[in-house]
This record gives sequence, C-alpha cells and structure tokens, in this order.
Amino acid sequence: MRKDTKNSSVNTKHPILSVAPMIDWTDRHCRYFHRLLTPNALLYTEMITTGAILNGNHDRLLGFSPEEHPVALQLGGSDPADLATCAKIGEDYGYDHINLNCGCPSDRVQKGKFGACLMAEPQLVADCIGAMRATVSIPVTVKCRIGIDDSDDYPFLENFIKTVSSTGCDTFIIHARKAWLKGLSPKENREIPPLRYDIAATIKKNFPQLTLILNGGLTTLAQVTENIGYFDGIMIGREAYQNPYFLTALEHHFFNIPQPDRMDICHAMVDYIARQDGSIHSVTRHMLGLFNGLRGARHFRQVLSTDTHTPDIVAKDIMEKALSYFEPGHSDN
Ligand SMILES: Cc1cc2nc3c(=O)[nH]c(=O)nc-3n(C[C@H](O)[C@H](O)[C@H](O)COP(=O)(O)O)c2cc1C
Repeated sequence: MRKDTKNSSVNTKHPILSVAPMIDWTDRHCRYFHRLLTPNALLYTEMITTGAILNGNHDRLLGFSPEEHPVALQLGGSDPADLATCAKIGEDYGYDHINLNCGCPSDRVQKGKFGACLMAEPQLVADCIGAMRATVSIPVTVKCRIGIDDSDDYPFLENFIKTVSSTGCDTFIIHARKAWLKGLSPKENREIPPLRYDIAATIKKNFPQLTLILNGGLTTLAQVTENIGYFDGIMIGREAYQNPYFLTALEHHFFNIPQPDRMDICHAMVDYIARQDGSIHSVTRHMLGLFNGLRGARHFRQVLSTDTHTPDIVAKDIMEKALSYFEPGHSDN
C-alpha cells in the first residue's frame, strides 16, 4: 500500500492485537494456551449461535478460565431480541466484548440468515447492534468481510460501515477479502477471494473515529509492521493456531515482552490439564504447532496427537516424552 495513506490517528507502537474466532479451534483450552503466549491480545470464542445459547447448557458453551481475560464472545444470529438476550448472558458470564459475526459464509449459517449474508442487510445489522448495545455495557463490535458476491466495491462496504456505525458501534474487524455465498466452501472462502487491504485502509481513512482491525492473511512480523500504520490493530487467525509461537514475536515487537521458553509453556499446560475434567487430547490438540520450524517438532506433534488417546495416561508423562526429542543429543527428526 502507498505510504502516504498511512493514518496518523492510529497507535502503531501499541496496536490492538487479537486472535481470531475460529470454530472448533478457539475453545477455552486453546484460549488458555494462547494467553500464555500473548498477554496483551484480545482472544475470541468460536462463533456461538443465539439458538445454541438460548437452548443449550450455558456452562458448557460459555464457561472459561479467569486467566483468559480479555475475551470476546462472538455471536451468530440475526434476531435483535435474541442477540440482546445472548449478549446479556455473555456479559453476566464475564465476557469483555460481544462481537457479531457478519463474515462467515457457510451454508449452515446462511440458512440461519446470519454470518456474511448479513452484509446485504446493513439496517438489520444496525438493529441487532442497537439492541445489544441497549442491553449491555461492554463493547459490542462487528467482524465482517469487505463484501459479498458481486457486491464487493468500496461504496458497498462504506454503506455497511456507515449504517452500522450510526448505532454507536465504533469497532470493526475487517477480514479483507470478500465472501462468495454460493460455490465456495468456507475454507475456499478464506483462500480464493483476493486480499484487499487497500479497501479496508480506505475505510479507516474515511472513518478515522472508528477503531479498525485488519484481518486476513497476516502471517509474518514484516507483513504486520508494514500494514499496521493504516489500522488500529490486527487480528491473526490460522497462523496463531498453526504456529502459535508467532504470537510471542508480536508481543516482543510491540510490547517488549520477552519471548517465553516453549518448555515452560508446556509445563504450565500440564498443570492446567491436571485441573481439567476432560480428555488430555482436548487440550493438547491445540498445542501441536508450538515447536513448528524446530528440529523435533514432528515428534512433538506425533506424541501429543497419538499418545494422548491411551487410556489412563498421565499428561506429565506424555509431555516428558514429547519434550525428550528436544534434549541435547537427540538427533531423530
Ligand atoms: C477453522 C476456522 C474456523 C473459523 N471460524 C470462524 C468463526 O467462528 N467466526 C468468524 O468470524 N470467523 C471464523 N473463521 C475465520 C477467521 O476468524 C479469520 O477471519 C480468517 O481465518 C482469516 O484470518 P487468517 O488469514 O489470519 O486466518 C474461521 C477460520 C478457521 C480457519
């Protein structure tokens, strides 16, 4: 992007860091693990639908550890009254932000009339945000794409942001590619439509009072530092999950936090597992990428993903075995 459009209203020294909401990935165990790597990032839940919250077990769906704060609860829904009820339930559970999903393109989500298809109905989104903001006192934010289907030009996004921000919503996370609602799977919709950081940056330029968080395709520190001047913060999705130690590089660069020892993180996770009722695997599955790029990473992944299914196995023993490959003199990889 051209340097002269960089925005003087953004805080490039201490940008807002966040780890994206990711279904099946960013559950409470994953967030606990990520928090050990990134003290400053805002962490997100997976998208939870209003239907699930209204009909389901709240502790199972919404429970989390105090160490995870700050955490944003991402809701999927399009009924203002239901969203307001769920936002209040989330606030009472201790969540720090409520976020509305306006970016997910899956068929299931479209059938429920929420996610990315809501970008075609900015007034409905405004009504949803208005109803939530009237009910809770924590921030209510929106995560969206730059467009959907053939509605992918700047005026389309500008109209969406203008309409929704008229409710007082002042924070938007923009996944800087459009979504095709028909024909592409959710995975393809995260890869095929081209990234357009310039469109997201133009929104920040034209709405300087809004807090704009850039999301999509950010995988290196160089990329983040190159783009940070145009936005108030960044949201990292897949790279945070697949290569979680990347989060420590961001912390070090922006907040001068020393990068922790990966072994210490593993030992802290063993202590955490000892306090949980569920399976060891439900926690360790989120840690597989911790040693990515290092000799021994493959064995670490293997031990954590296979041995954890053995009955009566103890987390401490598995971790010792997984980490033994990093001991000096171990040459196997
Ligand atoms: C497995 C997976 C699940 C996802 N689930 C959600 C979700 O629940 N809500 C949401 O807004 N986005 C979801 N996303 C999209 C991410 O939040 C993010 O916008 C996208 O991956 C682009 O960021 P990245 O390139 O940094 O990964 C998901 C992505 C992945 C890979």
